[in-house]
Amino acid sequence: MSRESGIGNVYEIIDVHAHVLPGVDDGAKDMDEAESLLLSAASQGVREIIVTPHYSRRRGTDRERLQELAARLQERISRHDPQFRIYLGQETYYHEELPERLKEGQALTMAGSCYVLMEFDPAVPYMTLFRGVRRLREAGYVPVLAHMERYQCLREENRILETARCGCVMQMNYDSIRGHWFQPEVRWCRRQVLDGRIQLLGTDMHRMDFRPPEITDAVRWLLKNLSRERFEDITCRNARRMIEGGEIPL
Ligand SMILES: [Fe+2]
Repeated sequence: MSRESGIGNVYEIIDVHAHVLPGVDDGAKDMDEAESLLLSAASQGVREIIVTPHYSRRRGTDRERLQELAARLQERISRHDPQFRIYLGQETYYHEELPERLKEGQALTMAGSCYVLMEFDPAVPYMTLFRGVRRLREAGYVPVLAHMERYQCLREENRILETARCGCVMQMNYDSIRGHWFQPEVRWCRRQVLDGRIQLLGTDMHRMDFRPPEITDAVRWLLKNLSRERFEDITCRNARRMIEGGEIPL
């Protein structure tokens, strides 16, 4: 497989949010679709990925099954690109017992690190979100807020800053910065990126016909509007720090 990006630049992306493990959530339905999703992502510059199936509080986590699926998918994709790497993580819906579930291994951190991809209901009150972030920090984890652009409560002055000061890493979806400057939502998301409030980007890919990985336009915008240093931080280096258990500068 070519390592050319297709838009005239060479870069390597680590995706940190993807529902590609087949048959475990609302993502890929089978191994063929999972392979197609990864090949599509790889053709757009993704070189490594943390797969993040939804954590189900009701069903718990069959860690061995997830590991086995990740290993099978790794085997498939390695036939195309021997250097492509898959790591296992989870997208965890926050609830009061999440720190305990993480300690028991019933909910998974990102690639075995201390980072936890967490989500809330989009209409979550700010105090609930803030307390959740603080509880995870107190339990020794580093919260990564999944698709932070979804939470209306963060749109009020200083709340992103306050949450980040509590030690929360912000993840935005590539899709949210794709579009036109005259779309208020796109403009708001781009502003967060330009002002340095976002540390990680993810595809949040699900299926080939529902939220496929389409990052080329977003990457083109990032290359044009960020320094190379900042571009590499947000698309790759911070994800590497997370995988290796290092510190992501906030
Ligand atoms: Fe997700």
